[in-house]
Amino acid sequence: MRAAHPIAYPVLRAARGPVLRVPGLGILVRDAALLRSTLLNTTSFTKTGPGSPADLWTDVLGPSVLLNMEGADHQALRRKLAPIFAPSFVEPMVTESLGEPVAQLRERLSKGEQVDLVEEVRRYSSIAISRLVGLDCAELTTVLFRKVSSITSMVRLTRTKLTPMQVARARVVMAELTSHAQRAYRAGDDRTVPGRMRALGLTESEAMGAVGAFVLTGTETLVSYIPRLVCLLIDSGWLPLIAADRSLVEPAIAEALRVTTPSPVMLRSVVAADAIGPVAVRPGDRVILATFAANRALGPFDPEANTAATVRQLWFGAGSHFCLGAPLAMAQIRLVCNAMLVAAPQGDLRVISRRPARGVLIPSYATVVIGR
Ligand code: HEM
Repeated sequence: MRAAHPIAYPVLRAARGPVLRVPGLGILVRDAALLRSTLLNTTSFTKTGPGSPADLWTDVLGPSVLLNMEGADHQALRRKLAPIFAPSFVEPMVTESLGEPVAQLRERLSKGEQVDLVEEVRRYSSIAISRLVGLDCAELTTVLFRKVSSITSMVRLTRTKLTPMQVARARVVMAELTSHAQRAYRAGDDRTVPGRMRALGLTESEAMGAVGAFVLTGTETLVSYIPRLVCLLIDSGWLPLIAADRSLVEPAIAEALRVTTPSPVMLRSVVAADAIGPVAVRPGDRVILATFAANRALGPFDPEANTAATVRQLWFGAGSHFCLGAPLAMAQIRLVCNAMLVAAPQGDLRVISRRPARGVLIPSYATVVIGR
């Protein structure tokens, strides 16, 4: 976290109390219950006003890309997209597209090879996102990842809008990525996800908006989370315990999601006078929902205590914008976890080397080499 956000992270950590107004930044919320009630209150808090995600992304992606929408249009678009993120669609897609590369990971670890997990997960995540956006060329995957990072790394907590130059650069990258999706959509082949979106009744501009949202939200979060999960399991000494008792795998995944919170902050804009706990808010205020702080305040990583169960997946958000890609994320996480436990049934893996990523939006490792 500190490597990714050397200024904002210490400020957010040092702040005291569940809610406070931070001059120049906005209203900071660090309490799980208040955070959830803010997310559920769409009358007073939205993703479309000043200082919200819409301010950051609409110039790049257009006005209708889920994460900058509210109300009936937003709900209608989510409903149309629901079949693409249903576990019954996502799980076979993940097994089919990632089965082979993850089997190779399992084999390499079984043989005692050292593996850079970040490089691996970057490949898996890019393959999955390529599927969603209609790319099918495996060589494009690393390039795709770099391109997405070049956009998201422009965002800082202190920045409510991108500069015209950044918008122009980001639009070039997105236009290139969505051109594949556009071709797949127009071809109408429902074996591709854009083709399927067409079959589900999405207009071309809705489908391209959804593709933009997938690229932006789904590429880096898993590349952040899976290596952090593995480091956490190894550093904390829990890996051999989980290997011995597989009923702890799901609580361990949830606990690691809680303490790492890969999407650490959510933003909202105030549209109607209201209050968050003891702090009054006015239209135009910016709200910074520090999910990572709220989640961590609940206690240390402990799969047996499983405190994560009390926050109803707050790491995926809550209410109308709850992470659409959660089933896809969970399918990939489970696949990699399972491969690791099959390769090392005693949980005897160690971190050989690691380096945090700098200048990124989503706190991550740049490299994590694991082996026996
Ligand atoms: C561990 C991985 C992930 C985490 C922790 C995560 C977290 C989140 C959170 C917190 C939100 C809500 C943001 C808000 O309310 O302001 C969100 C929304 C979203 N996520 Fe994820 N996400 C993950 C993976 C993915 C993946 C793989 C996809 C695949 C496409 C994805 C697609 C989306 C989309 C489309 C939205 C916007 C939903 C809307 O605004 O209606 N996410 N995610």
